[in-house]
Amino acid sequence: MHAIGVDIGGTKIAAGVVDEDGTILAQTRRATQPDDAGSIDRAIAEIYAELSESYEVGAIGLAAAGFVASDRSGVLFAPNLAWRNYPLRDRVAELVGPDVRIVVENDANAAGWAEFRFGVGRDVDDMLMLTVGTGLGGAIMIGGQLVRGAWGVAAEVGHMRVVPGGHYCGCGHEGCWEQYASGSALVRDAQAAVITQPERAVRLLELAGGDAEKLIGPHVTDAAQEGDPLAVELFTELGRWIGEGSASVAALLDPELIVVGGGVGAAGDLLLAPARQAFGEQLSARGYRPEARIELAAMGNDAGIVGAADLARF
Ligand code: BGC
Ligand code: NA
Ligand code: ZN
Repeated sequence: MHAIGVDIGGTKIAAGVVDEDGTILAQTRRATQPDDAGSIDRAIAEIYAELSESYEVGAIGLAAAGFVASDRSGVLFAPNLAWRNYPLRDRVAELVGPDVRIVVENDANAAGWAEFRFGVGRDVDDMLMLTVGTGLGGAIMIGGQLVRGAWGVAAEVGHMRVVPGGHYCGCGHEGCWEQYASGSALVRDAQAAVITQPERAVRLLELAGGDAEKLIGPHVTDAAQEGDPLAVELFTELGRWIGEGSASVAALLDPELIVVGGGVGAAGDLLLAPARQAFGEQLSARGYRPEARIELAAMGNDAGIVGAADLARF
């Protein structure tokens, strides 16, 4: 059976028709308005109409960037989108009709599931997935099972406090890991550097067309890949936050593999090398225990689509 996977993030909706082996057969995307839940519903309905024209589709999996209820019907809360107790499944069902099964999943759980079944995690049983994008998402696989928690909202690792009194977070608290290990943190720090270190930020500002407000994550990635020292430093810092936080998570879960996905994964070793180093430095009992590997997601930004579709089948 083919299923549609829809990955709903802070800036865009990406969707595809996926077969049972996790292969994407057709893809489409729409821009999102994070402050308008209704526009997201309508975009999903449009996507379904478009993709179901050429494919017979048995289910729709919606990967949502927020705390998803355990009955997989909707979003309890989203730090970076307008959803508050939002019945996403039913709102979309009103638009697409009753014939197709709709399942809502957390976006990071969907991505983690895809990597676990079809990607870099396919040979492990115990895995932590981190999706580093607008927010910081998490998925936990233990003993071959996706961990959902009592109320569906396990693995919200982005909201573990790492800095008392630190940056404000969309969840209402301060110092959450997501405020230090996300694409948003990268851009915030890059924009700050334009002001505090203008002579080192020349290239970044140029890539942003001379307007720091227009700076986006891919600009920092491009500059870092050219060897721009400030951009490289920003990725080193981001990587360190990812690695240090992962060491804390390892104290709790003892994963075999930590997978880093999301948009900033495009920076590759510029991000992974400092993440691995910081992980090792912070890991308790180092030298007396096997160490988790930290690897890049194999499916890049498609993981959410594939995982949402796959999870929607059962
Ligand atoms: C949300 C998570 C989501 C993650 C990545 C976080 O802010 O709380 O639910 O998985 O961002 O989108
Ligand atoms: Na999650
Ligand atoms: Zn938070």
